[in-house]
Amino acid sequence: MDVHIEGPDLKTASLCAPILRALPAWFGIEEAIVRYITEIDHLPTLLAYEAERVIGFLSLKQHTPYSAEIYVMGVLPEAQRRGIGRVLIDRAQAWLKEHDVEYLQVKTLGPSRADAGYAKTRTFYAAMGFRPLEEFTQIWDESNPCLIMVKRL
Ligand SMILES: CC(C)(COP(=O)(O)OP(=O)(O)OC[C@H]1O[C@@H](n2cnc3c(N)ncnc32)[C@H](O)[C@@H]1OP(=O)(O)O)[C@@H](O)C(=O)NCCC(=O)NCCS
Repeated sequence: MDVHIEGPDLKTASLCAPILRALPAWFGIEEAIVRYITEIDHLPTLLAYEAERVIGFLSLKQHTPYSAEIYVMGVLPEAQRRGIGRVLIDRAQAWLKEHDVEYLQVKTLGPSRADAGYAKTRTFYAAMGFRPLEEFTQIWDESNPCLIMVKRL
């Protein structure tokens, strides 16, 4: 795998936007994409490069001195299942541990709403060691149950 990881850096939104737009089954609502792009620019973000092209990214949000969140991540469809998501998570965890962060969470669509794409997303996070904590309908809305998954670093 001739892939290298850069960051975490700020001001990466223009590099991440094409990846969000290449994943319409996950990021299909234009308003939500614009919100992600605005937020990503202010968040520490890791970028996966293959040759000169960004093929994956992971943005982190720190909530307390002890806890952080994978705010959003994505890998281009043609680059998936080649270990890039795993490397991004590994690098994010190493960086957070250097900053004494102890817990990492991710919010994703919960299993009470059937969705083939997000079922794969949850499988990926489970393979990365995240465990389902609780599903909430109050965080997003009734039709978008939010599952919080956590991992101790
Ligand atoms: C989720 C995502 C980031 C994973 O990235 P990836 O580079 O494809 O993942 P990896 O190749 O590193 O997978 C690591 C492990 O996770 C599991 N996994 C990943 N994708 C899987 C899938 N589609 N089905 C089952 N298991 C999967 C496997 O155990 C895999 O290890 P293996 O290939 O040795 O079996 C990527 O698929 C993606 O961008 N999905 C769409 C957007 C999304 O879901 N973003 C997260 C929500 S914000």
